[in-house]
Amino acid sequence: MKKILVAPLAAALCLAAPAVHAAPHAPAPHQDWSFDGPLGRFDMAAVQRGYAVYAQVCSACHSMNAVTYGDLGAMGLTDEQVRQIAAAQSVPGGVDAQGEPVTRPATAADHFRNPFPSPEAAAAANNGTPPPDQSRLALVYTGGPDRIYALLTGYRTPPAGYRPSHPGAFYNPYAADGEISMPPPLHDGLVDYADGTPATTAQEARDVTTFLAWVAQPHLAERHRLGIQVTLYLLFLAVLAFLLKRRIWSDVH
Ligand code: HEC
Repeated sequence: MKKILVAPLAAALCLAAPAVHAAPHAPAPHQDWSFDGPLGRFDMAAVQRGYAVYAQVCSACHSMNAVTYGDLGAMGLTDEQVRQIAAAQSVPGGVDAQGEPVTRPATAADHFRNPFPSPEAAAAANNGTPPPDQSRLALVYTGGPDRIYALLTGYRTPPAGYRPSHPGAFYNPYAADGEISMPPPLHDGLVDYADGTPATTAQEARDVTTFLAWVAQPHLAERHRLGIQVTLYLLFLAVLAFLLKRRIWSDVH
């Protein structure tokens, strides 16, 4: 009987296991992140600086289709700050009386402006490889935030004998096959930080990685808090049940 049950179960498990054939890349060193672990919460100053990096650098190539300007309020901005950020961006605004496409300033309800009008245009502008959407990248990218940080800070002089497999490819040990079609996006002093933090490459990489992790799951800290509350409540119920049991059975010897 057991065997009859176990065989299909094992088969089902094999089918359910994701078939990941990740190309080899150097393992990313672990970083200390404010949002790590069950008690982790986001360092909102870092999230805000990371948004500055996204807005000033990454947004030239990477879309963030699942995120609205209004979502930025949750990183500690006022409605007015959100309105100003949105209004500075122009998004497609339908057509005018002549049928020509027009643009309008974005509002809090609009999704982030897409840098390219179509996936084909995104690929054509980037040597044939479209930059991936960044809305959930920190969640779905193999290696997660550690590897995003390693990748952003990992461009270096290639070893002797390295030949790019195609024009526009860059050596980076943390990219799949040690090569990537993204030019090194960060360098020292590239970003203007409103809080005066010195914008080194490492700082920019840390901050934008924190922003990408936050944007992928902005409710992480609340979920952690709820989890702890539920655990405490269940512990309390367990103690109560134990005391009640002792009392009910106290006459029985
Ligand atoms: C000039 C355009 C451009 C800019 C600016 C840019 N990227 Fe990219 N990015 C790309 C392209 C193209 C790819 C796809 C590369 C590939 O698959 O070879 C990519 C891929 C990535 C990947 C996935 C890498 C992988 O292994 O598949 C990450 C992570 C990433 N970019 C992060 C960033 C961050 C963070 C910024 C801002 C600091 C940024 N990018 C700025 C063009 C850009």
